[in-house]
Amino acid sequence: MIKLFHVYKQYDTKLVLSDVTLLVEKGDICCIVGPNGAGKSTLLKLMFCQKKPDRGQILINNQNVTHMSQKAISAVRQRMGFVFEDYRLMLRKTVLQNVALALTIAGTPLKQGRQNIDRVLAALGLEHKKHDIASTLAAGEQQRVCIARAVVSDPLVLLADEPTGILDSAAAIEVFDLLRGMSMRGTTVVLATQNQDVADRFPQHRVMLNHGRVTEQ
Ligand SMILES: Nc1ncnc2c1ncn2[C@@H]1O[C@H](COP(=O)(O)OP(=O)(O)O)[C@@H](O)[C@H]1O
Ligand SMILES: [Mg+2]
Repeated sequence: MIKLFHVYKQYDTKLVLSDVTLLVEKGDICCIVGPNGAGKSTLLKLMFCQKKPDRGQILINNQNVTHMSQKAISAVRQRMGFVFEDYRLMLRKTVLQNVALALTIAGTPLKQGRQNIDRVLAALGLEHKKHDIASTLAAGEQQRVCIARAVVSDPLVLLADEPTGILDSAAAIEVFDLLRGMSMRGTTVVLATQNQDVADRFPQHRVMLNHGRVTEQ
């Protein structure tokens, strides 16, 4: 589902990813673990086609996205969800409006998507916040809205950057259960974390990243 071959990424003169080769199968949950600055977020952004590698190849769902046109990339990204480290919500809009926009982008009719919205908000303990304005939520709630938005359209691929970074352990467990449920339904999940306790919950496929290199798989 996701394949990276000998991927390199550099910012100015700083090499951030070096010879990364990685295979994530359909329905897999792959946990990228490594310290701050290891290159985890950059790796997820490459998978999301938000950045391009300097060298190497990236395949998503058997499509080589390395040299794709912007239009073709948009179509690939329509089937992907991304949990941003910094949430990136529309702060003046309600929870519902934030989550519903993801359905519009994915091309899901809103009527059909309403059930998904209710299911996802319930799974994340946000039902009672549905009509609240995003800026009025606590940070942990905003992070969960960001997760809800990423998963509501049942994406083929879910990329989650520190999705439980500021959640308490009960909320984090809800998120892990949600990710596991999605992977069981066939979504390919890649999760990045610097937290070893989080990584220990996903021992099936763990990738250690250090200074931009995969040191253990
Ligand atoms: N847009 C950018 N421009 C320049 N350097 C960057 C940029 N984004 C990240 N970096 C640098 O690349 C390295 C890896 O960053 P990142 O991928 O965010 O790591 P992680 O998510 O593992 O903490 C860091 O040293 C960071 O400062
Ligand atoms: Mg990061």
